[in-house]
Parts: sequence; C-alpha cells; structure tokens
Amino acid sequence: MRIKIKYAAAIMAILLFAGCSDDKGDGRVTDISSSETTTVTESTASVTTEEQTIHTTELVTETETVPPETTTVTTTVTTTVTTTVETTTPPPVTTTVVTTTQPPVVTPPSTSGTTSNGHTITTENGITYVDGTLIANKTYALPDTYNPGGLTGETYSAFIEMQNAASAQGLYIFVKSGFRSYADQRYIYNGYVARDGQAAADRYSARAGHSEHQSGMAIDVNSTYLSFADTPEGIWLKNNCHLYGFIIRYPEGKESITGYMYEPWHVRYVGRELAAKIKDSGLCLEEYFGITSAYSY
Ligand code: DAL
Ligand code: ZN
Repeated sequence: MRIKIKYAAAIMAILLFAGCSDDKGDGRVTDISSSETTTVTESTASVTTEEQTIHTTELVTETETVPPETTTVTTTVTTTVTTTVETTTPPPVTTTVVTTTQPPVVTPPSTSGTTSNGHTITTENGITYVDGTLIANKTYALPDTYNPGGLTGETYSAFIEMQNAASAQGLYIFVKSGFRSYADQRYIYNGYVARDGQAAADRYSARAGHSEHQSGMAIDVNSTYLSFADTPEGIWLKNNCHLYGFIIRYPEGKESITGYMYEPWHVRYVGRELAAKIKDSGLCLEEYFGITSAYSY
C-alpha cells in the first residue's frame, strides 16, 4: 500500500512536471510575448511622436523668436551709419569759404594805368593825376607836405577873369575860402567832427590830406550856405564858370559818387577845355574820369 502510495505520489509528481513543460512548449507562450512586444512598440511610437511634436514646437518657437532679434540688429546698424554720414557732412567748412571771399574787398585804388573808363591815371611824388589833372578826393589823398602856398597862378588868374565877367553883369563874386594847408584842413575838419560827429562831418568836410583846397585849385565863392545856389551870383556861377576853366565840383544829386553833399559855392579849376567837356557830359569829376571817392579807413 505504501508502495502504491509512493507510486501514486511519484506518478503525480511526474504528471505535474510534464504539465508545466507542456505549457512552455505551446503557442500561447509565444502569443503572450508577441502581445507584450507590440504593446511596447506602440508605446515607444507614441512617445516618439510626442517628442517630435515637442521638438517641432520648440523649433517653431525659436524660429519665430529669431526674426525680431535680427530686425533689431539691422535697425541699430542703420542708425549708426546715418549718424556717421551726418558727422561727415559738416566739414565743407563754410567758414573757410567766407575767409577766402573777404580779401578781394581790400582792393587798393588803381594809381597807375587806366581808370575804369579808360582814362590815364598816374602817380607822381605821392600825387595822383588822371589825364594830367590832379585828383584830391576821399580815395586819393595829397601828401601832408604838399603846399603850393596859396591858389595856383592859373587858378587865381582864371578867377579874376571870371570875377570881372560877373562884375560886367552887375554881380559880385569873391573868394571866401581859397587855399587851405594840410594843418588848416585838419583843424577845420576836427572842429566839425567835434560839433556834428564824424559821420556827419564826412559828408561836407574833407579829412586832412583829402581836401581840394590843399591843392590851391579850389575856391569857395561868396557863401557856404545852400541858399547861395538860388542867388543871382550862385545861378550865374553855375551857368558860366566852365567858360573860365571851373566846374561845380560837388553837384546836386551826386553825393554817393563824389562823397560830398551839394556845394553850389565850391568850384575847382581844371582848365577851360576839360571844364566844358565835363559840363556838357552832365557828369561829376569822378564819373567823367571813372574813379572812386571813398575812404579806406
Ligand atoms: N568842403 C570840401 C569837401 C572840403 O572840405 O574840401
Ligand atoms: Zn570848398
């Protein structure tokens, strides 16, 4: 009986062992493994897809972020270039051009050759002549040492002849002021400047060295008031002085050219021929000779 039991136990043990082996050997085991593998693979695919999605999103995000940064850099560069161009523009230094333009203004008056309208201008011993006629005005001065000692002989004799002609008409003309030295003119001019100021004085009185009275060829007739122009003597002088070699040196309306206000009493001896030409031309001496009358100081 014990043997039968032992056998029976042994047989049970064998049968149990054989069943396990059979289970490992059938298709179900393989199917389970296959099923598990499939599940893992799907799981991996799913993860991979999410990662790709994530990467794609990140890339898009980076791509969208980059453009603005690039734009900002470009703007900065452009601004820098513009600033550099503006800084380079100023140099044309206008100041240099202005400085170069000024010198020609200090053009000294011509003292030899020809005047602006072709007359001959020369300088001798510091005295300027145009076609041989002595010039004394704001542009051309006489040396401070020039002193003929009185009216020139020609000037004085011409005046006497003119005075006699006027007398024959019942008129009386006389020399109120003839020759004035450099020192005399300086004294007179300074007195006018003290009284009226330089700007006003320069309109009717010559600075020392610039007065025709210093030449001995100029005469103030009768009166130095404008009212003289309307007197019989003043009218006669204006219409006849050229016949004796004189001209009304500072005509009415010529101040901008002669440099002086109208002086109906101031006559200048230039000789009969020239006096007649100037009267006929209607020009003042400066216009006729093509010269200026302006101080350079
Ligand atoms: N009155 C004139 C301009 C002179 O002083 O010579
Ligand atoms: Zn005068």
